[in-house]
Amino acid sequence: MNSSVTSVLYPGSFDPLHLGHVDVVEQGVELFGRVTVVAMYNPSKPSGIFTIDERVAMIRDSLAHLPTVSVEAFDGLAIHAADQFNADFILKGLRNAGDFEIEQQMAHTNHSVSGVRTVFVPCRPDQVFLSSRFVREIAQHGGDVSHLVPAPVASELARIFPSATHSTGSPS
Ligand code: PNS
Repeated sequence: MNSSVTSVLYPGSFDPLHLGHVDVVEQGVELFGRVTVVAMYNPSKPSGIFTIDERVAMIRDSLAHLPTVSVEAFDGLAIHAADQFNADFILKGLRNAGDFEIEQQMAHTNHSVSGVRTVFVPCRPDQVFLSSRFVREIAQHGGDVSHLVPAPVASELARIFPSATHSTGSPS
């Protein structure tokens, strides 16, 4: 058995973290051993809900069951984060062909600039529809997202948007 531990960097906006992200981290741990989740500043997505520090706190709470996972914030390029956190590879989850098109271009660009490779894992088939954008939209308008996000994220969303319902099962 190969006893060496590979370390991978999982970068994203995570605004907020949802259960699809958690699955990708769990796959990363299973396949590689060590995962550094990095909440990135993404200037192309300025209209989020949570600050980077809030995202990091929620991600830490949500992944506390995974002892080989660490969570950090980073402002800059993913390749520089990979270098700073001593990651061997960048890890990304793919939901569909649209994700693949974007992620393949980023993977090739990152490799051509720095030599770092990106590995893709497929999202769980029952979670391919999940997106942080839709979680935000539903929560902001009072919808129930508690089955789509980890418990620490669900309680933060409920605190910020008190009208958000929590599975009463009775539409009004
Ligand atoms: O969760 P997201 O918003 O899809 O994550 C995208 C993210 C933040 C991982 C990506 O935009 C990124 O890596 N940004 C950092 C800046 C960077 O490295 N740019 C060069 C891409 S080739």
